Amino acid sequence: MKLLVTGGCGFIGTNFIRAHLREKPEDFIVNIDLLTYAGNPENLRDVESQPNYLFVHGDIADATLIDELFRTHRFDAVVNFAAESHVDRSIETPHVFLRTNVLGTQTLLDAARRHGIQRFVQISTDEVYGSLGPTGAFKETTPLAPRSPYSASKAAADHLALAYYHTYKLPVLITRCSNNYGPYQYPEKLLPLSIINVLHDREIPVYGDGMQRREWLHVSDHCRGIELVLEKGREGEVYNIGGVNERPNIEVLKLLLEILNKPTSLLCHVEDRPGHDRRYAIDSTKIRTELGWEPLVSFEEGLASTVRWYLENRSWWERIISGEFRNYYERMYGNRKKLS
Ligand code: NAD
Ligand code: DAU
Repeated sequence: MKLLVTGGCGFIGTNFIRAHLREKPEDFIVNIDLLTYAGNPENLRDVESQPNYLFVHGDIADATLIDELFRTHRFDAVVNFAAESHVDRSIETPHVFLRTNVLGTQTLLDAARRHGIQRFVQISTDEVYGSLGPTGAFKETTPLAPRSPYSASKAAADHLALAYYHTYKLPVLITRCSNNYGPYQYPEKLLPLSIINVLHDREIPVYGDGMQRREWLHVSDHCRGIELVLEKGREGEVYNIGGVNERPNIEVLKLLLEILNKPTSLLCHVEDRPGHDRRYAIDSTKIRTELGWEPLVSFEEGLASTVRWYLENRSWWERIISGEFRNYYERMYGNRKKLS
């Protein structure tokens, strides 16, 4: 199989490419990535010399480049990870999110339609369903109700992808996953940010009361779900991935402090994220029963191994936090009001 993977130098794309090349060395992967602040070519440096891997530095919204790539490589499948992915940044600069997440996806869908393709897997998120009350869980049939510029742009991309399935019979499949964690995650996200702060004995900024609930899934379990959808999923269908580990943020952070043997006094409640979604929970019965997916990594085990990865790969994140991230952190947290 010849695969076009987009956004492969980001967190999940990196983990996906590494696992795919390990499991299916007979496949060929082209990875196109714009190398935004979140894309790190170092993540895949050790696979760069493999004959079945090619990196292309470019923008998924660049129609000429994308057309040229499809013409040259005649892909069998696309897995579209490329996105602006951080909710806080979408509140600062929504237009970047619309350009990549919506127009970029549409550019890929158009090229796939023109050149023909067997599978187009759109990597989406549980955030498109909006915010849940205290009970229930998102099903694939739950109406989309996004509440941040990020989730609105991802929902728009999902609608477009399904529209291309219905209108042009493009073989589109969509995955919607809950919060991922694991190696190579950019330090703007809750867990790497907290690990790195704690390693510097800095406080962890807890938004609001810290009682927002998320479902945490190890990135390797997400990637196995994507592989199953790519291989055996039904065209035109959406597959939720998650549904195993719902916890309030504050509990997640207390467990992290326990693993790192640090006091809970490092938890500092700060002004909340505007429009903060209160609760996500995923019903993943469909992917479990249809495709036989199940998560293999428990949260306790996965969190401990993630902490180990950040401890063993200091140079990876030290380079990041001394660059663009420094300004971002100052902007985001410098003047944030502490709550008593
Ligand atoms: P990330 O921010 O770590 O990586 C995104 C990658 O896309 C980066 O390498 C970046 O350089 C690249 N990129 C951005 N704009 C581009 C463009 N115009 N053209 C080409 N490349 C571009 O994101 P992630 O956490 O790895 O998320 C990957 C996908 O999974 C996203 O679509 C996201 O919405 C989805 N998702 C993420 C999570 C999560 O918890 N992280 C959960 C569910 C779904
Ligand atoms: O649910 C899937 C989504 O998970 C993905 O689609 C997104 O790409 C990914 O970024 C993630 O979104 P969240 O907004 O849930 O992730 P984040 O790590 O930013 O925040 C997790 C929770 O922790 C959320 O309730 C906000 C809170 N938080 C976050 C940060 C960065 C804090 O309390 N303090 C923080 O400093």
